[in-house]
Amino acid sequence: MWYSELSSTNDLAAAYAERGAREGCVIIADTQTAGRGRHGRSWCSPPGAGLYVSIVMRPVPRVVPLLTVAAGVALAEGIRAATGLTPVLKWPNDVYVGSRKLAGILAEAGSTPGGAQHVVLGFGINVLPAAYPREIGERATSIEGELGRSVDRGTVLAECLAALAARYDDLQRGGPAIVLDAWRTFARPMLGRPVEWDGRGGIERGIADDIDGSGALVVRTAAGRERIISGELRWI
Ligand code: BTN
Repeated sequence: MWYSELSSTNDLAAAYAERGAREGCVIIADTQTAGRGRHGRSWCSPPGAGLYVSIVMRPVPRVVPLLTVAAGVALAEGIRAATGLTPVLKWPNDVYVGSRKLAGILAEAGSTPGGAQHVVLGFGINVLPAAYPREIGERATSIEGELGRSVDRGTVLAECLAALAARYDDLQRGGPAIVLDAWRTFARPMLGRPVEWDGRGGIERGIADDIDGSGALVVRTAAGRERIISGELRWI
């Protein structure tokens, strides 16, 4: 379903999910007035400048931890198919071109009063460069900014949704290995690089090594290998 304006496509998709919407229900907005990012940040969503999309999913529990990993792979594949750009994935699932962010993913789990579980998988892709405030423009990029020409948002959306359906199918039917291998291919420029995060005893540092079967980032540190499950990781 397409809307010209919503507060957040994730909110409307969650409301539909709670009322029993079927898996695959897609909510798209031309602009969001309260788009959300991870870690409580807002997601700037100017009219017509991006793709703001949320999908109701009802995954089997074992695939939930890898859903955003699969979605990152799917966005990278969809954007590549539609535009020829080759995005890079930064753990856990940020989509970059060079040193600037092109797209992000926000997955939110919920359940209906009757107990049925769902996940709302939301993604935002920057398409036009000009409409973003300067401070965001310095850290972010857009498809048209990278290509120097216009693109058809519908084609980008269709390719991303097709890739997402395929990668979700891989996860549900085949297991994690094929999705994790695809993630490693898109993340290769970031692996082997130093990272830091806020640990229990202060800032910890290591070298990003790999992703494991549950979607955790494996980091080599002076004390051995650490699994980073969540939280904010800084690439240094
Ligand atoms: C991030 O990288 O911080 C995640 C950004 C997710 C943004 C999308 S836009 C569509 C959907 N609706 C929201 O409110 N957020 C997600």
